[in-house]
Amino acid sequence: MKIFLDTANVKELREVAEMGLLDGVTTNPTLAAKEKRPFRELVDEICRIVDGVVNLEVVSTDAAGMVSEGRELAKIAPNVVVKLPTTFEGLKACRRLNREGARTNLTLCFSPTQALLVAKAGATYVSPFLGRLDDIAHVGMDLIRTIRTIYDNYEFQTQILAASLRNPLHVVDAAVAGADVATMPFAVFQMLIKHPLTDIGLKRFLEDWQKADLKL
Ligand code: E4P
Repeated sequence: MKIFLDTANVKELREVAEMGLLDGVTTNPTLAAKEKRPFRELVDEICRIVDGVVNLEVVSTDAAGMVSEGRELAKIAPNVVVKLPTTFEGLKACRRLNREGARTNLTLCFSPTQALLVAKAGATYVSPFLGRLDDIAHVGMDLIRTIRTIYDNYEFQTQILAASLRNPLHVVDAAVAGADVATMPFAVFQMLIKHPLTDIGLKRFLEDWQKADLKL
């Protein structure tokens, strides 16, 4: 499973990129706004840091507007993926941008029927939002499982990008359910490696080593 960071923060991206663990990044208008920097300057820097794909989202709601914004975004760097909302207009824009060779990610997906149409429109990625479904007492992970079954039944090539992940268990469950990509906030990424028994074990090893006065 590929790991994307769900952030527009360059410090966070740099840290994970330096570890060689960053397959890509997802941004959205909310995340970009949080950075309080001119958008173009921000995304130019993100594209330089991230070796993998950089998801940048349109803000128009009609297909023509989305296509023209998508073209502009795709010109920024060869690793840009254009994020479009999962609406009728978004599907229309997806088809047009695909024909022009742009990669697309249909975001804000909350149902299997939406995901089916996203795949038929030929999107590169579909982004089911798990956490936001959990927030309204629906089991978000069921959506990933259902989409996986549908896509496998018909050999759709659209990749399932598990989004709106809020904790490490979401990441594990998304991997078990067969998501192709998991995008997560930096805080969740940090939690993936943290384990109290690792910390306790390491502390003991080092104490014993020091007590014995050994040298490497
Ligand atoms: C994905 O592309 C979205 O940016 C993101 O995962 C949304 O997550 P949230 O529901 O935590 O805002």
